[in-house]
Amino acid sequence: MASAAASAARFRPPAPVPRAEFPGIVALIRTLRDNPLEAWTRVHFDQPIVVARLPFGQVAVVSDPAAIRRVLLDNAANYRKDTLQRRIVSAGFNNGLLMAETEQWRFQRRTLAPLFTARAVAGFAPAMMEAAADLVARWRRAGDETIDVADEVTRLTLDVLRQTIFSDGFGRDTDDFRDAMRTYFDTIGQIDPFDVLNLPEMIPRLTRWKARPTLRFFESAVDAIIARRRGRLDREPEGVERDILTLLLEAHDGETGRGLTEVEIKANIITFIAAGHETTANSLAWSLFLLSQSPVWSERVAAEAARECGGPPEGMAARLPETRAVIDEALRLYPPLAAISRQALAPDELAGHAIPAGTTIVIAPYVLHRSPRLWDAPDLFDPSRFLEPARATIDRYAYLPFGAGPRICIGASFALQEAMLTLAEIMRSFRLAVAPGYAVWPLQRVTLRPRGGLPMRIVPRETGRSVAEPDRASRVHHQQAAPGP
Ligand code: HEM
Repeated sequence: MASAAASAARFRPPAPVPRAEFPGIVALIRTLRDNPLEAWTRVHFDQPIVVARLPFGQVAVVSDPAAIRRVLLDNAANYRKDTLQRRIVSAGFNNGLLMAETEQWRFQRRTLAPLFTARAVAGFAPAMMEAAADLVARWRRAGDETIDVADEVTRLTLDVLRQTIFSDGFGRDTDDFRDAMRTYFDTIGQIDPFDVLNLPEMIPRLTRWKARPTLRFFESAVDAIIARRRGRLDREPEGVERDILTLLLEAHDGETGRGLTEVEIKANIITFIAAGHETTANSLAWSLFLLSQSPVWSERVAAEAARECGGPPEGMAARLPETRAVIDEALRLYPPLAAISRQALAPDELAGHAIPAGTTIVIAPYVLHRSPRLWDAPDLFDPSRFLEPARATIDRYAYLPFGAGPRICIGASFALQEAMLTLAEIMRSFRLAVAPGYAVWPLQRVTLRPRGGLPMRIVPRETGRSVAEPDRASRVHHQQAAPGP
């Protein structure tokens, strides 16, 4: 049972109101291009499974926890990552863990698992705290200016990956490298219309063509870093940093003894950065936005952070349950990967429906997390659902920000630790409010992000000043909805 104070703190953050019925095919294609989040209809949220025949084949949207468990775990061998996903991400990380299949995937997953154990992730806490401290210092220098918080937390997540993967840096080229890294991931993160239309690879993608020099610079910089590190490992193995790059170079499969090839090492570096930076940045941006709308939770997190931060980084994440509950709630309302998909290899049955071979299965955390069958007041912000004892009542397959089964996100604890340490550090240092008149709206691109960024006013806590209450008009605006303002 939520306490009266917690209930009073609940509010409905911006989200499209589901459509009453399916849009026509032209409107559907337009909506999928502009913002797929606005295509969902009421039945998707209400029904355990919705099957539709679309021009590109049969699609089953599955929101039944038992059926999802079958797709992702019990009968996972029958469901492969589908081709659209494959075409969109392709390029640099084709040979990395995210896109590998069958034996190549099994070998890589076994070999990479030791990089992300609880112990290894705890070892990354100091790098995460340093990046959070840099961000706080930057914001203090910004004074009373409005800053784009979405942009800032993206910079932070890239910094964390840069530090944890290549902790010895890049000598004089750090700024160039950082710029190239941003351009690289901005570019490969864009969905090219040619990919959606399934045009052959020989037709150049303009989105990538324009950025080719930067792509080449980034990839060759990574090659040079790997070669330099290999040399150091040969010459002075004891003196070398125990970061992700070293772990990748030393990793070997316990079963076969085989290590990763040069191509696999590079593909996984690119995969970790691509899969790990925008997702984690969005979880932080949405958490900060939600807290800016909730004075009660804002103060709860700030108080917890003030109590716990400043001590040793070891075990700190475990001492931040309220901060964690806010992040979990942000991941529920705005899951960075709003939908994952698979293709059925052989016929199956899901939630009482026959599934022919070739069916595309869509599991949409965004829809699942807002299903009234599975959640109480699903559209309301209420982190207390993630505090014990309520947390224990959540069905494992009703909450999937990191997926589930053998292909569950390998970086989940890394991301959660980073988000918790950073959110705590920000909240104990600042009060935040959305820039007056700015209407925040969720936009689904590769990840689910605040459309147009997240301009916020920030005020250091020690000044004792409050930030202006969020603009009432824009709050009302959020609550109407589909399609987006
Ligand atoms: C809040 C942040 C994150 C979210 C919401 C997230 C979400 C996900 C989801 C839903 C999947 C499963 C996709 C599927 O089943 O089709 C996944 C897989 C993956 N994620 Fe994450 N992720 C996050 C952070 C990270 C980080 C920090 C890393 C690495 C440093 C990472 C690396 C990966 C990799 C390599 C896979 C593929 C695993 C496999 O197929 O075996 N992710 N992620």
